[in-house]
Amino acid sequence: MSEDAYRLTSPDGLEMELPIRKGTVGPDVIEIARLYREHKVFTYDPGFVSTGSCESDITYIDGEKGILMYRGYPVEQLAEHSSFIEVAYLLIHGDLPKVDQLAAFDNTIRRHTMLNEGMLSFFKGFRYDAHPMAMLSAVVGSMSAYYHDEMDATNPDHRDIFAHRILAKLPTIAAAAFKLNIGQPFMYPRNDLNYTENLLHMLFAVPAEPYEIDPVAADALDLLFILHADHEQNCSTSTVRMAGSSGANPYSAIAAGVAALWGPAHGGANEAVLNMLEDIGDVSQIGKYIDKAKDRNDPFRLMGFGHRVYKNFDPRATIIRGMCYKVLDRLGSQDTPLFDLALELEQIALKDDYFIEKNLYPNVDFYSGIIYRALGIPTSMFTVMFALGRSVGWTAHWREMIVDPTGRISRPRQLYTGPLARDYTQIEKR
Ligand code: SDX
Repeated sequence: MSEDAYRLTSPDGLEMELPIRKGTVGPDVIEIARLYREHKVFTYDPGFVSTGSCESDITYIDGEKGILMYRGYPVEQLAEHSSFIEVAYLLIHGDLPKVDQLAAFDNTIRRHTMLNEGMLSFFKGFRYDAHPMAMLSAVVGSMSAYYHDEMDATNPDHRDIFAHRILAKLPTIAAAAFKLNIGQPFMYPRNDLNYTENLLHMLFAVPAEPYEIDPVAADALDLLFILHADHEQNCSTSTVRMAGSSGANPYSAIAAGVAALWGPAHGGANEAVLNMLEDIGDVSQIGKYIDKAKDRNDPFRLMGFGHRVYKNFDPRATIIRGMCYKVLDRLGSQDTPLFDLALELEQIALKDDYFIEKNLYPNVDFYSGIIYRALGIPTSMFTVMFALGRSVGWTAHWREMIVDPTGRISRPRQLYTGPLARDYTQIEKR
């Protein structure tokens, strides 16, 4: 009997050892793959609360200590010293780049920002008021219709060009969706601008006059993208891994991740937070909404609060809250009342026993929308912004999954509770 194993005894006395595997840091895992073969039973874990789906070197989260590390680097240090493009290199390639590596990577990304002109015709087919996330997932999915000549997942060069195209072209697609919504002409990317400057240019410039990029806005977006870049096996990243595990092309796998991110329980929460704050309106109404959130018969949840992993604070929310002060101060935003309302809501909620007992704290989505709004980005585009940051994590995880020698198609089982076998009856006899 090996030391590092759980011992399982079935109701009829059948014994089994389940080996324990240790990671670099964090909880051990119990290997259960043999369970069905030897005991004909499945484990059962809806929502995968206690289930590790894979082995990964990319991101580590400690929910109790509020730790988030990308390839071992604490997110606080990357937020202070790095840039989104450098963090993208780190997540995709595993180490911080040297000067020449970063320059080459940045140059490559800048030169892949244009879309195939045929892709732009998609936007003529969407209704003017289509949700930007609907357009993003559709057009990202269409990338496999344009780049099918370089989608051999076994080819490392194809894996690199895929990463460059996703990182470089998603901002262009996102900006095109925004321009459709506001009825303005599409703005082509500019290679002389960095990632966030280029995004601001494509979002807010018009052909009729010069557009001056505000460095405060560019820096704020860069920091938000760093904080959203990856987050272990979250819903959308797991979706990308799941879709990619069948051998589906990487662009389709990323499009699946975009779709999963859209949900209000996940990346759609930043849009839902702003809508909630506007519904609350002012401090006098906070109590009513806190009560609604606590009422088990009311489906309302305090958006931007709670997290599957973080059970005291989300380190990203802490950084973003600090950013709000600086950005609102520098941009003189009229959204300061909204920020004040959010701060008051947080203070009241964190003193409430319900939120304390259930370990519900502000997450990454609670304050991010206030900054997006102060930058002139509409609520409907908030989850698109999340997707731009997370596109790096999705890409890094797809690349890790696709070269995993132990990788196999993801295919969970179930607890069947449906009807037992029964015979077909002709319609006349039903
Ligand atoms: C993101 O996974 C990631 O890493 C995600 C993310 C990333 O970077 O990828 O961090 C990004 O998605 C952040 C989360 C954004 N979503 C929201 O802010 C939506 C509001 N939050 C919740 O819906 C909820 O907290 C989740 C979805 C975030 C977490 O859900 P869990 O882990 O399944 O927790 P749960 O639903 O089982 O809740 C536990 C209890 C429940 O009460 P009981 O049934 O035990 O009585 O807490 C309650 C819930 O009702 N609860 C809330 C609440 N969140 C949980 N009650 C009121 N308001 C809330 N926000």
